[in-house]
Amino acid sequence: MEVQEAYGQQVLSEGIKENGLVKRVIFLENTDSTNVQAKSAAENGAPDGNLVVADAQTAGRGRRGRQWTSPAGKNIYFSLLLRPDFAPEKASMLTLVMALAVASGIEHAVQDLNNGSSRSVFHADNSGIKWPNDLVINGKKICGILTEMSLRQNAPYYVVIGVGINVYEQDFAPELVDKATTLETECGQKISRSSLLANVIEAFEEYYSVFKEEESLAKLKKQYHSLLVNRDRQVCVLEPKGEYQGIATGITDTGELCVKLEDGSETKVYAGEVSVRGIYGYV
Ligand code: BTN
Repeated sequence: MEVQEAYGQQVLSEGIKENGLVKRVIFLENTDSTNVQAKSAAENGAPDGNLVVADAQTAGRGRRGRQWTSPAGKNIYFSLLLRPDFAPEKASMLTLVMALAVASGIEHAVQDLNNGSSRSVFHADNSGIKWPNDLVINGKKICGILTEMSLRQNAPYYVVIGVGINVYEQDFAPELVDKATTLETECGQKISRSSLLANVIEAFEEYYSVFKEEESLAKLKKQYHSLLVNRDRQVCVLEPKGEYQGIATGITDTGELCVKLEDGSETKVYAGEVSVRGIYGYV
């Protein structure tokens, strides 16, 4: 008989330091969307560092208005509320900071499970961060991040960073089978969701404080580049007004993707409504 993994309010509160970046952990068995819940908590005065975690979502949201399928007992779904004191234009970079934190959290959780072995999950080709914020292993997605902000003039703003990580093997919908995967499938091991989440939060806390030093990605860029699967690859940039191809060379200090075009000029791609694809597939 399979042992049930402990996942709930108590184990999460024990694993995550509630006196650091995270001030409060709220666990919900089932909710519409942790982003919706975190935003509603923010509107009701919840503090910076309010973390909402769910075992299942009935209306999980992805980027560009897509759904995020969120079955119970399989994955991690969480949303972190931040009330930064830097300019709101800089907040979109937090998505890239979170992508780094998830990659690092996964590496640490896998190392802990293997008694400190330095084996890397992201060593293989097509494994790492697909700009700006998808995490892929062997060319398939294991994590998506949706950052949402409050828009109110002349008032302090807040940011909600929502993260979905595919952890245990599951049946994906036919349209996702070739695009999505899980940590269990790729690593051949069952990683505890609570320890993975604690590792991700710890890593985010560290990277967030580095980010705040210069309010830019300057000091995190090297590490981001080491994980960037699009780097030095041909990419197709899909913008609402059309598409073009080029070679991705890296990111700027503010998180745009640098793409070298055929005529030798370089353009900067802003995340927003843009999607970047490899020319032979998803990566
Ligand atoms: C993407 O499209 O890649 C972003 C997916 C983000 C999904 C997470 S799951 C937790 C949080 N709550 C949501 O409704 N969405 C985000």
